[in-house]
Amino acid sequence: MLEQQIDGVRRRALERIQSAANADELEAARVEALGRKGFLSNASKEFGKLAPEERARAGKLLNEAKQAIETALEDRRARFDRDTLKAKLESEWIDLTLPAPGIRPGSLHPVTQVQTEIEELFISMGFTVLDGPEVETEYHNFDALNIPANHPARDTQDTFWLTNGLLLRTHTSPVQVRGMQKLGPPLRMIAPGRVFRNEEVDASHEHTFYQLEGMMIDRDVSVAHLIYFMMTLLSSIFRREVTVRLRPGFFPFVEPGFELDIQCLICGGPGCPVCKQSGWVELLPCGLVHPNVLRMSGIDPEEWNGFAFGLGLTRLAMMRYGIDDIRLLASGDLRFLNQF
Ligand code: DAH
Repeated sequence: MLEQQIDGVRRRALERIQSAANADELEAARVEALGRKGFLSNASKEFGKLAPEERARAGKLLNEAKQAIETALEDRRARFDRDTLKAKLESEWIDLTLPAPGIRPGSLHPVTQVQTEIEELFISMGFTVLDGPEVETEYHNFDALNIPANHPARDTQDTFWLTNGLLLRTHTSPVQVRGMQKLGPPLRMIAPGRVFRNEEVDASHEHTFYQLEGMMIDRDVSVAHLIYFMMTLLSSIFRREVTVRLRPGFFPFVEPGFELDIQCLICGGPGCPVCKQSGWVELLPCGLVHPNVLRMSGIDPEEWNGFAFGLGLTRLAMMRYGIDDIRLLASGDLRFLNQF
């Protein structure tokens, strides 16, 4: 009687396990068969009523049934796991041959790129890179450069004056003065940096831009030295031979002073819109350091002389990369910056 019951329980449980469609149904089948109030524990309650030898046989049957049910549950569960994994693999696959999204590395600002290149070039020729303050004294920015008060040259550089009598440097030339005072002759220095002018902003003017000042002081420095270093600088920046010419130019801190032009790199001479049909592009003011400037910084002009130049770094970067609006440089516009 009990044996038949166990057999029936076993068959029913196995059927339910086989037909369980998901993990929940399988769990329900397990509770029904093996749970504390399930078929098998009910059946074992009947044990007490049995004669000893029947009890042994029924016990064996009961154990076998339990084992068979547990094995079936295990198999079924493993199949569910396999199915779940298979479904997951089918729905969540990744195409490993696709290009990775990648991390876009940052890059240096075009002005910084040009600046770094020029620094490396001049360092290789024995120059020191100097830094100077952006907030300057009137003395360093003007007087020590032979631009006394009331000199008309002060008007050509519209100055941001601070209320404490200091100013925002209008050029990097004051670093010449600091270099001469600090290092003395002989001296080879460059000074890149930010300068400020109280100017109307348009496509070619900004109130803030970058210059690079250069100075070499030694014995018997001539215009030939100046031209040599300037041609080395320009052919390195433009990565080709350049043709230059000097025109007279006036700057109080040099005598003689020059405007150095390069032959237009776009048309090569005959004239085009970039060089305004002249074949030449004005690039680099320079000259031989004025004796007053040397003297004011404690250098004897009878013994030493030198050349100086002031490169418009911002303008050079614009020419090199064909940037036609200076305002883009400080715009922070990633569409612009990502190109460099
Ligand atoms: N400081 C001048 C300016 O910003 C540029 C300049 C001209 C610098 C001639 C020099 C130089 O060293 O020799 O307008």
